[in-house]
Amino acid sequence: MSDMISLIAPCLRGLSFDGNKGKIVLFSEKSRGVSPAIKTGVLTEENYAEELTKAWKPGTALVTVEGIGSFYLGESYDEALALADGKLCTPAEAATVADRNGVVKNKTALVTGGAQGFGEGMVRGLAEAGAFVYIADMNLAGAEKLADTLKAELGRTCACAVSVNVTDEDSVEAMMNKVARTTGGLDIFVSNAGVLKAGSVKEMTLKDFSFVTSVDYTGFFICTKFASKQMTIQNKAAKGYLTDIICISSKSGLEGSNKNGAYAGAKFGVIGLTQSFALELVADGIKVNALCPGNFLDGPLWSDPNRGLFVQYLNAGKVPGAKTVADVRRFYESKVPLDRGCTTEDVMKALFYTVDQKYETGQAVPITGGQVMLN
Ligand SMILES: NC(=O)c1ccc[n+]([C@@H]2O[C@H](COP(=O)([O-])OP(=O)(O)OC[C@H]3O[C@@H](n4cnc5c(N)ncnc54)[C@H](O)[C@@H]3O)[C@@H](O)[C@H]2O)c1
Repeated sequence: MSDMISLIAPCLRGLSFDGNKGKIVLFSEKSRGVSPAIKTGVLTEENYAEELTKAWKPGTALVTVEGIGSFYLGESYDEALALADGKLCTPAEAATVADRNGVVKNKTALVTGGAQGFGEGMVRGLAEAGAFVYIADMNLAGAEKLADTLKAELGRTCACAVSVNVTDEDSVEAMMNKVARTTGGLDIFVSNAGVLKAGSVKEMTLKDFSFVTSVDYTGFFICTKFASKQMTIQNKAAKGYLTDIICISSKSGLEGSNKNGAYAGAKFGVIGLTQSFALELVADGIKVNALCPGNFLDGPLWSDPNRGLFVQYLNAGKVPGAKTVADVRRFYESKVPLDRGCTTEDVMKALFYTVDQKYETGQAVPITGGQVMLN
């Protein structure tokens, strides 16, 4: 049997949207033991959706599930939220905010690989725009540090660290169960964790090729598998509600990359997955889109002095005539019509657009400074 919380909590969260009370479900372990306003029968995998829909009353519900705990909705939500020292508004309120950044206000998001680089930038951008963000990363210490920093900077509980290895099904499933237990579900899932190993096709080991493929390509499949299951339950209960799965592909997902085939292959591949998943998941109220950033030259992937791409590309001889890291950097800047590297602010604009746009799915949005122009 599945983890019942991963079925029940998203269903309740969705029902709370459908009730138009706009109270987002928050399940708290701390809420155990409070007497329930509504009792359901014993919930099973087969009957939970029907039973909860029958039991649900907007604005009042508190459902106790035998052996599992209590789910707060409606009036008890503020109390549960106070425990988290946070403040969320309703999806309806969020939707009326005119500013594009308002499209994520009071929504719940998750960013894999959120501890550093583009992921950190998106976590920050989402939190600053009013979202609650799970920082999901293999580097749990880094994710926790970022969550603490953001809480201190923004003065509210705006982030939560969660450990994950996106190449491991059990790990991703456990991450989504944590989401179900904590906020009941999700509005935005950003599949961002990625790795890069550059090298000639003649020299690259199968081990390195498989490593890149497992994180950058297979990781997106695994994440979408578990995120979409949860969103499907939630959105079924909240008919007409749209949620987003966003894959961070790359400029290298739109055109080939010399001596970088494993990476470009995976980044092209996730666009194929994006289109295919979008076709299937539209029936579940889930949009699936990819963002294709250009080179984030100031980020650690490029600038790390030991393992960064500038050093890797210098050593791989990828840039003809380059003798220093600075030569490699200039080479990449000069290839961009807008004459600079991509920044996280550039990526956030595309992310906000993608979430805000309710009439698009299965797209790959370029953010390349004009370096790649679509046909
Ligand atoms: N940096 C760029 O120039 C650039 C350009 C276009 C696209 N991208 C894409 O943006 C995404 C982020 O890139 P970045 O430059 O910020 O990378 P980064 O190396 O700075 O950060 C990647 C993060 O992902 C985490 N991670 C790695 N493997 C993981 C796994 N198996 N499970 C969970 N977490 C894992 C790391 O711990 C790290 O925090 C990647 O998908 C990358 O391909 C980057």
